[in-house]
Amino acid sequence: MLQRQHWPSRWVFILAAIGSAAGLGNLWRFPFLAYEHGGAAFILVLVLANIVIGIPLLILEIGLGQMMQRAAPDAMGKIRKGFRYLGWLAITLGMMVLFYYMAVMSWSVNYFASAFTLAWGDDTVNFFLGDILNLSGGVNDIGGISWPVLSGLLFAWALVYFSVWKGVQSVSKVVVWTATLPFVILAILIVRALTLEGAGEGVSLFLVPNWSSLANPDLWIAAFSQVFFSLSLAFGIMIAYGSFNPKQTEITMSAVWVAVGNFLVSFMSGLVVFGTLGYMATQQGVPVTEAVTGGPALVFMIFPLAISLLPAFNALIAVLFFGMLLTLAIDSAFSLLEAFSAAFRDRYAAAPTKKIALLISLVGIAGGLLFTTHAGLYFLDIADHFIVNYGLVIMGILETVIVGWAWKGNKLLEFVNKTSTVKLGVSWNIAIKYITPIFLTILLIINLKNEFVTPYEGYPIWALVYIGALPIILSPFIAVLLDRLTTRKQAAVEE
Ligand code: PHE
Repeated sequence: MLQRQHWPSRWVFILAAIGSAAGLGNLWRFPFLAYEHGGAAFILVLVLANIVIGIPLLILEIGLGQMMQRAAPDAMGKIRKGFRYLGWLAITLGMMVLFYYMAVMSWSVNYFASAFTLAWGDDTVNFFLGDILNLSGGVNDIGGISWPVLSGLLFAWALVYFSVWKGVQSVSKVVVWTATLPFVILAILIVRALTLEGAGEGVSLFLVPNWSSLANPDLWIAAFSQVFFSLSLAFGIMIAYGSFNPKQTEITMSAVWVAVGNFLVSFMSGLVVFGTLGYMATQQGVPVTEAVTGGPALVFMIFPLAISLLPAFNALIAVLFFGMLLTLAIDSAFSLLEAFSAAFRDRYAAAPTKKIALLISLVGIAGGLLFTTHAGLYFLDIADHFIVNYGLVIMGILETVIVGWAWKGNKLLEFVNKTSTVKLGVSWNIAIKYITPIFLTILLIINLKNEFVTPYEGYPIWALVYIGALPIILSPFIAVLLDRLTTRKQAAVEE
C-alpha cells in the first residue's frame, strides 16, 4: 500500500485552503455585494454567515476528509457505501466550474501580459469585449474561436497543471506563494488607493452602514450564498485538502483561520476597489455610483481605466493588480483539479500522479473550449448562474443531510474534538442539521421560482436549457459513470 501524501505542515494546509477560498469571488463579487446591500450592514451579516454556516461546514468537510483519509467519493462512501456517488457528484460539479473558471483565468493571463505596456489604451471596454473576447452580438451567434482567449487558456492550464502535477508535493510549494502574495500586493494597493484624491468618497459607499437594509431578505440571501461560494464549499475541495492532513491535525481553529484569511482578502479588495473607483469618479467628474459594478466588467473594463488615470507608476500598479488576480485565481482553479485528481488517486494507488493530472487537464481544456468562442462570455454567465445557484446549493443540502442525519451518532464531531482544544458542542450540530439545510432549501425554492418567472438575464430558452440546466441534470449520471469506470479498473488490478 502506497503511503498517502500529506501536507508538510498544518500551516501549509491552511494556506492551501485560503488559496482555494480567496479568488474572484472576493475581488469581483464581494465589494459589489457590500455596496448593493447596505455596506457595513452587509459585512456584519457576512461575518455572521461565516460563523453560522461557513466555519461549521468547513469543519465538516475538512474533518470528513481527514477522518477518512480519502477524497470526496471514498470519504463519503465510508459513511455508507452508496454515498460515494454524492462525492463524485460534488467533483463533477466542481469540474464544470473549472471549465469556465479557467476561461476567466485566461482573461487574467491576457491582462497580465497587457499590463506591462498598458496595452488596453483608453478604450478599455472595446479592448475587453473586442480585442480579447471578440464578443458576438448574442448567444445565438457562436462565431469562431477567440485566439487570445484560447492561447490564454492553454497557458493558464499549463500553470495549473504544473502546480498539481506532483500532487500535494507541488501544491505545497506553490501555495506558499500564491496564497500569501495577494495579501502583500493588496496591502500595497490599499496604500495607493486610499491616498488618492476622492478615495474617501468611494470607500464610504462600501463601508457606511445602511442598517435598514438588514430588514431586506435579499441581503441575508446574498451574504449566506457568498459564504458558500467564497469558501469553496460543496465541490469536494476541502474534503480532498483535509484528507491530506495527518489524522491528528488540529481542525477547528484551522477552519477559523481559513475563514478569517478569506474574509481579510475580501475586505482588503473592497478597500482597493472602492478607493480607486472614488478617485476615478473624481477625475471624470461623475458620481462614484455610476462606475460601480460587479463581475467581469469591474475587473476587466473599469479597473484598467482607473489604472490608466493614476498620476504615476500606472504600469507598475497594473502589473501588481493583474499579477494579484492571477495568484488569486490559480490556487482556486487548481484546488478544483486537485479535488478531482485526489479522487482518482484513491482508486488507482499505483498510477502516476502526473498522468492523472494530465488526463484531467486535457478534459478541462476540451470543456473550456466552449468559453473561448465568440459567445463565450454569455455561456460563462449562464453556466456560472446555474452551477452556483443549483449545483452548489443542492450539493450543500445533500452534504449536510448525510453527515447530520444519515450518519448515526456524533462520530465526526467526536473526531474533530479529539484534534482540538477548542471543543465543539451542540451548536455545531444545530448548524449542520438544521440551519444550513433549511437555509439552502429556502434558497433553492426562491431560485427556482425566480427562474420560472424571469428567464435568467433574458437569455433564449435553448441556451439556458443546454448550457445551464442540462449539465446539472446530467451530473448525477456522470457521477455514477465515473464511479463505475474507476471501480472496474480497481477490481481488475486486484485480480
Ligand atoms: N472560492 C473561489 C472564489 O471565491 C471560487 C471557487 C468556488 C473556487 C468553488 C473553487 C470552487 O473565487
